[in-house]
Amino acid sequence: MATRTPRPFAAAAALRQFVRRDASGVGFSCRLARPRPRHLHAGRSRPSTTSAATHPPKVPATPRPPFQSRVAPVSLLIGGGLFASVLAYNHLGDDQPDIEGAPSLPKDDRDPSLPRYRIADVRKHDASSPEPWVIFEDKVYDITDWVSAHPGGDVILRAAGASIEPYWNIFTIHKSKHVREILDQYMIGFIDVADLGPDGRPPAESIEDPFVHDPPRDPRLITHTARPRNAEPPNEELDRSFLTPNELFYIRHHMWVPVVEEARADEHVVSIELPDGDVKRYTLRDLKERFPIHKVTAVLQCSGNRRNDMTRHAGKTNGLQWGVGAISNAEWEGVRLSDVLADAGLQVREATAPTRRDGSAPSGGDAVDANAMHVQLTGLEAYGASIPLAKALDPRGDVLLAFGMNGKPLPRDHGFPLRAVVPGHVAARSVKWLSKIVVSDEESTSQWQRRDYKSFGPNEGPHPNWDRAPAIQEMPVTSAITGVWVGECVRKGRVPWMGGASAASSSSSSSSSNSNNRGGGNANGSGIVDMAAVSHNVGFTPTAAPSTASSPCPPSISAEPIAMQGYAYSGGGRAISRVDVSLDGGKTWDQAELVDDCASPGSPCYGSKTWAWRRWRYVGRLPTLPVPAAEDRRGADKGGDRKACTTLVVKATDEAYNTQPESHRGIYNVRGNLATAWHRVRVCPRCTPADEKREGGVTWSTGETYGCGFGKEDQGETTREK
Ligand code: MTE
Repeated sequence: MATRTPRPFAAAAALRQFVRRDASGVGFSCRLARPRPRHLHAGRSRPSTTSAATHPPKVPATPRPPFQSRVAPVSLLIGGGLFASVLAYNHLGDDQPDIEGAPSLPKDDRDPSLPRYRIADVRKHDASSPEPWVIFEDKVYDITDWVSAHPGGDVILRAAGASIEPYWNIFTIHKSKHVREILDQYMIGFIDVADLGPDGRPPAESIEDPFVHDPPRDPRLITHTARPRNAEPPNEELDRSFLTPNELFYIRHHMWVPVVEEARADEHVVSIELPDGDVKRYTLRDLKERFPIHKVTAVLQCSGNRRNDMTRHAGKTNGLQWGVGAISNAEWEGVRLSDVLADAGLQVREATAPTRRDGSAPSGGDAVDANAMHVQLTGLEAYGASIPLAKALDPRGDVLLAFGMNGKPLPRDHGFPLRAVVPGHVAARSVKWLSKIVVSDEESTSQWQRRDYKSFGPNEGPHPNWDRAPAIQEMPVTSAITGVWVGECVRKGRVPWMGGASAASSSSSSSSSNSNNRGGGNANGSGIVDMAAVSHNVGFTPTAAPSTASSPCPPSISAEPIAMQGYAYSGGGRAISRVDVSLDGGKTWDQAELVDDCASPGSPCYGSKTWAWRRWRYVGRLPTLPVPAAEDRRGADKGGDRKACTTLVVKATDEAYNTQPESHRGIYNVRGNLATAWHRVRVCPRCTPADEKREGGVTWSTGETYGCGFGKEDQGETTREK
């Protein structure tokens, strides 16, 4: 007679996996690691294996863990099954007796050459085992070799000894053919039919929701993924103020937000490991009390900022489809990493000493060569990255161990209680919830250093050479249009920074007035300078809206007023020297006014170099455009009548004369990183007939860009770059 697992046992299995609190999380993108060949697995001794044809051996009873560790509030469980699981508690770990009269097991027609494992066997290969296993569907995988290669590091151990599926249901990025292929390489056998339900799968498991303690977020943020949270501010909030308010700062998480009790934040420890293996520990209190405190005003920008632009203009990219808002600017407060490293005892060779360019460390006592070394940074939830030691030690590099943001303690989403801020570098290196620093002769081995946040040649296609490409550090120059106002909106003074009076009173062009603007100070007392408070006469002479007696619209429209705003930024501390604007797709150019947020006394600009963004604005007149009737609109927007639209373009140049590439096609890479081509927004007039609600007239369509006087451009539309 076959052995059967009674249903209560199956339900109770759900509780076994509950709360693996000390494992650090789950990763969610994958890289290939060389698996152990199957024959090696087959040759190893296994606790209990059967072939499909043989009777499965009994498995020794698993000792019962304390009940406390298994009970959780319903809110902590994903997927339900709690009641059944609690009912089944008494059966946990019991050696299951044969049951007389039980129905015979279903036929097992899976590959007979591979072993069968009982769920109890798998349980023994949990996170504490040197050979961790996981279950996926009805198969068993020995992930021992995958742990070190797993993009999320040993986070995968959270699933060890049980099914990985509940985690992949959360980190849905795993549900891809690519990840499945990787996992398949670690397969060692099947779950015994005795432990399979009628659906041919082991019973569903419940796990603690790792995101349950994430903080609440501002509803204005545009969410790309909820768990982990990835969100950007809407355009109308993005650069409304020079400093992005904390609650609107973009959020980029790879996992959940670690919990650090506010009351005990000062006890938070960051360890520093030196090249000789010496480890020093500092509490947050030590940092605050023993080192000079500095402020640095710096942008953080994800390398995926504007990725959706690259996708729309150049082809499919993998990753979150960020708009122009994976960038924000804040005033950070903390201590210099260089001060703390020196205090920890790091000895560095004089910068004047000759440095080999072959990558090998020069000899010379204990002192290390900053050019050949790296500072690895690790967060509480296992995220890791590194920066060159030379950047960390550069007295004008301003790398902070930050605990303050815009005059407040770091919010949880942005690294509370301690994060690295690496100004001028890709934000992926500004590790949040910082707990460990290692000075090493190699870069961080994390996925995010080695298999992400790199860029490639457009020829490399979907399988780029990750090892050849350097990790992104300093960011290239970029810019974006964040607001557009056309026609009546401008005439009616709806542009926040123009104001009715200034719009009506001044001359007709803004392009030559770069030096005239002045920061308006902290009108709201928050230290944040509001764009609307910047008093400067942007020139624009209003004209009457064109119309004809017989039709609400003329056949074409000329010199319509347009106002635009946006940001420009370059990495490495390089200041923006110029922002060029085109209203006709790049045929002719003008220059935008650069807002001088840092010029006024008491401005919130700190730091040795230009780490902040530069806001810009522009007022001009559109070229003559035909005005299609409303019924023609579809054709026009879809390119049927392209003459009815014009493309607004912005590009920035930094002080080293680096400028943005014209096209995303020339910088295409499958990860969609560093999407810095000219930013384009198409605007199209159309004739809207009068109805009961409104007068008829010319209205404008554009993309998602903030402003007024237009509806949304067709989502499916692709504006091809020239
Ligand atoms: N640090 C930790 N510990 N975990 C993370 O997921 N994400 C990185 C970086 N530091 C990350 C991290 C990435 S990719 C970015 S773009 C920035 O944090 C985002 O910082 P923010 O969420 O404060 O905007």
